[in-house]
Amino acid sequence: MMLRIVEFDDLTRQQRADAARVLADAFADRPGSFDGKFKEEVDTFFVDDDRDAIAALEDDVLVGWVGCIETYDHAWELHPLAVDPSVQRGGIGTALVRALEARLRAEGVLTLYLGTDDEFGGTNLYGVDLFPDVAGKIATLAETSGHPFAFYQKLGYEVVGLIPDANGFGKPDIMMAKRLGGV
Ligand SMILES: CC(C)(COP(=O)(O)OP(=O)(O)OC[C@H]1O[C@@H](n2cnc3c(N)ncnc32)[C@H](O)[C@@H]1OP(=O)(O)O)[C@@H](O)C(=O)NCCC(=O)NCCS
Repeated sequence: MMLRIVEFDDLTRQQRADAARVLADAFADRPGSFDGKFKEEVDTFFVDDDRDAIAALEDDVLVGWVGCIETYDHAWELHPLAVDPSVQRGGIGTALVRALEARLRAEGVLTLYLGTDDEFGGTNLYGVDLFPDVAGKIATLAETSGHPFAFYQKLGYEVVGLIPDANGFGKPDIMMAKRLGGV
């Protein structure tokens, strides 16, 4: 199978529909994600000037995609990242993040950052009161049962913060960032 990375603007109507389905399937175990509005989320990447996205195609079938949002002049947010569950753990997520990094690096973006929620107990900080000394808790963060923060760590992202109770008590968002370019 041949994996190709393409711009969202080059997607066919079918591939664009698949992007919404892949998003829904990838987050199916996390109810409430995107308020269930997967097609609307995909659409924002076609209409919003501060949003961009790229997709991974396997034999012309969309199997994953990653978006980015220009939130600061020099630091952009990676959001969202979704790989079709039937082909996860096959390197597609890595290929997408690397391709996004290369594009943003070429544009002079210095930092790529993201939030990866623990609303399901994938880390040791799930269910924990993070106040006081939130920064101290960061040093103790560890994966317990497969959390995407381990995926991002392998790609060179480091934890830069925690948003306590972002998804309800004890369900934090884990903020991660990576330097892309020279300073
Ligand atoms: C997270 C996700 C994008 C990873 O994509 P993928 O194509 O499965 O990842 P890769 O095959 O490139 O994995 C690269 C490495 O990260 C690890 N990894 C992947 N997903 C992981 C997870 N959920 N938890 C822990 N480690 C993970 C893999 O084991 C692999 O390690 P290895 O190279 O030592 O084998 C994908 O699993 C997904 O879409 N998950 C559901 C949606 C989601 O969580 N998105 C991110 C929210 S912030």
